[in-house]
Amino acid sequence: MEELLGKLLGGQVVSGQALSEEMGVTRAAVWKQVEQLRAQGFAIESVGRQGYRLTACPDSLLAPVIEQGLRTKWAGRPIVSLRTVDSTNRRARELAAQGAPEGTLVIAEEQTAGRGRRGRGWISPPGESIYMTLILRPDVHPSQVAGLSLQTALAVARAIDRQTGLAAAIKWPNDIVCHGKKVCGMLLEMNADEQSVHDVVAGIGINVHQKRMPEEIEKTAASLDMLSGGVCSRAALVRAFLEEYEDVCALAARGGLMAAYRERSATLGARVQVIAPAGSFVGTAREITESGSLLVEDEQGRLREVLAADVSVRGLMGYV
Ligand code: BTN
Repeated sequence: MEELLGKLLGGQVVSGQALSEEMGVTRAAVWKQVEQLRAQGFAIESVGRQGYRLTACPDSLLAPVIEQGLRTKWAGRPIVSLRTVDSTNRRARELAAQGAPEGTLVIAEEQTAGRGRRGRGWISPPGESIYMTLILRPDVHPSQVAGLSLQTALAVARAIDRQTGLAAAIKWPNDIVCHGKKVCGMLLEMNADEQSVHDVVAGIGINVHQKRMPEEIEKTAASLDMLSGGVCSRAALVRAFLEEYEDVCALAARGGLMAAYRERSATLGARVQVIAPAGSFVGTAREITESGSLLVEDEQGRLREVLAADVSVRGLMGYV
């Protein structure tokens, strides 16, 4: 079906005969795939006896739609698009273990067991959101992997700005917030031994089309459509993320990552409550280090280092 879609995306009339020859299937099989695409909302005209023409695309996350006009060298090459999966992170880890190249993107319409940070779930119904995971193979020591999460957050924030005009900020370590509400969460998982990192999967969930959020998170979360008043194309947003990811990697290589991240930080300078298994404390967020930890000045004036893995940071004046 994706091969057929790729051939129709140019918008030209394509003959059923040519399609069947190029794809090595019968004309009846071509017709069946056309029907499957129509059932997913693609408007495909039958043009006389000649063939088919695609006249409108739904807000689809199929690989050929995202790949249309994609300007990247390696990010999103390839794209593995699934209708449903338990978790794109779990599937990406499996593909990474089988040798999938850096840049492989796993994306799904729906997750049946979406995972969030600190052992929580991630509600993942179809049609409204983006659930995607990028496979990375960084040449870094395991202690430096947290920096990748800053990099990923910056790329998502820039992509959201570009596609919606909302000024996206980053709540440390990597929640993306717009107008003080969380629109995106990330879960990075690494496969490493003591010396080296084999691979990292960067899982990203973005709220896009929800008209309202589930009651339990409606005070702290929102969707891009709710906040922008528009309708954001999910494929265009994924494309923008992949392009921004490559640009942010180049920026990091030039030593510019931290300055750009700090500029977008909604946490630096804020009064925060750090909730850790070892106990909570209140303080002012002062700095984010190259290795990705947060330095918080507590009420006794001591600078305390906070690692992302085990804490929740809450703003004292609301979610951020
Ligand atoms: C958070 O708790 O804020 C992180 C949420 C991360 C959710 C995304 S959705 C795509 C990827 N697959 C998962 O199972 N989780 C991440």
